[in-house]
Amino acid sequence: MKIERKVPPLRIGNACIFPPLVLAPMAGVTDMLYRRVMSRYGVGLVTTEMVSVQGILRDQRPSWDLCAPDPLSQVPTAVQLFGRDAAGMAEAARRVEAGGAFLVDINAGCPVKKVVRQGAGASLLRTPDVLAGIVDEVRRAVKIPVTVKLRVGWDHRSTGMIDLVRMLASAGADAVSIHGRTAVQMYSGRADWSWIRRVKDAVGIPVIGNGDVTSPSHADRMIEETGCDAVMIGRASQGNPWLLGAIASRWGYVGNGGGMPGWRDFVDTVHEHIGAFIERKPRAVGHLRKLLIWYSKGCPNSTDFRYRISRVEEPGRLLGIFDEWVEGLMEKDVEFLPCKVPGIEYLNN
Ligand SMILES: Cc1cc2nc3c(=O)[nH]c(=O)nc-3n(C[C@H](O)[C@H](O)[C@H](O)COP(=O)(O)O)c2cc1C
Repeated sequence: MKIERKVPPLRIGNACIFPPLVLAPMAGVTDMLYRRVMSRYGVGLVTTEMVSVQGILRDQRPSWDLCAPDPLSQVPTAVQLFGRDAAGMAEAARRVEAGGAFLVDINAGCPVKKVVRQGAGASLLRTPDVLAGIVDEVRRAVKIPVTVKLRVGWDHRSTGMIDLVRMLASAGADAVSIHGRTAVQMYSGRADWSWIRRVKDAVGIPVIGNGDVTSPSHADRMIEETGCDAVMIGRASQGNPWLLGAIASRWGYVGNGGGMPGWRDFVDTVHEHIGAFIERKPRAVGHLRKLLIWYSKGCPNSTDFRYRISRVEEPGRLLGIFDEWVEGLMEKDVEFLPCKVPGIEYLNN
């Protein structure tokens, strides 16, 4: 039986990515366990948080921990590097390729001072020649696809986006992802998707759209309005792999692990994620609470749940409170899926 794909797979170089749905890089968030959970629910590509080129070149363990692909996941991993020196970036790319990266992504969008001050991240938007030089050297250093993640310019006066992306394509970038905000905007305002359309119309390489997608109909709208080849989701995935599964299903791919999710699936996923995190970092209670707060978002009585976990320091007890809260919801016959993906029209598996 031929499967009807509403949105075709993403082709980057020789690689075929399906569904064409990408987990965005998020510093302090997209660690291996987070990527594992998201992978299971229907993203085609997951991205590490940005990894310092210097950390890789100096062989520092924390940097390698950030970019290690998950041995338990079939979903390919993009390793995102940040730095400024083309030769160093190329060498780091070679090393992460040898370490199992499926794709290397160059960060040209991070607006955080610490990164910009080094001339890296979004600062590269102001030095197109340097960025194109990096792409050129990295492209020649590795066989895996090379992509660049960009914001739409440094500030609202930036006008060179189209020329910049053309330069990057000529330098050998296999695809670009565009977050529709300027660096100066940080996360304020709304992402301007019209830039994604303009870039898509101007270059032949695949364009991945990013910014403010929070629902399956939003993801559809981004594809329709911009013509982008794939959608990248960051914040809306926090505590919500079911959203990604719903989008994948809607586009004709197997999402949500192949079945209709319910509270049992919710509990299993949270236990697995939190349990594995506790094993790795038993003292990171603040991060555990953050993960649980994300998971509780959209569900009834979550304010009370948040209050209860805010008063607990013992990781095992956090999961106990979580279980009690979910049992209460199940007893009240609250439906699971509309909590996490409101307004969903259909799931086809
Ligand atoms: C906590 C956090 C950390 C982020 N870290 C990175 C990063 O390491 N590299 C990067 O290119 N973008 C980073 N971003 C930006 C996201 O990848 C994405 O472009 C942005 O959040 C917009 O997409 P969204 O509206 O789907 O969240 C980060 C965003 C957040 C919220």
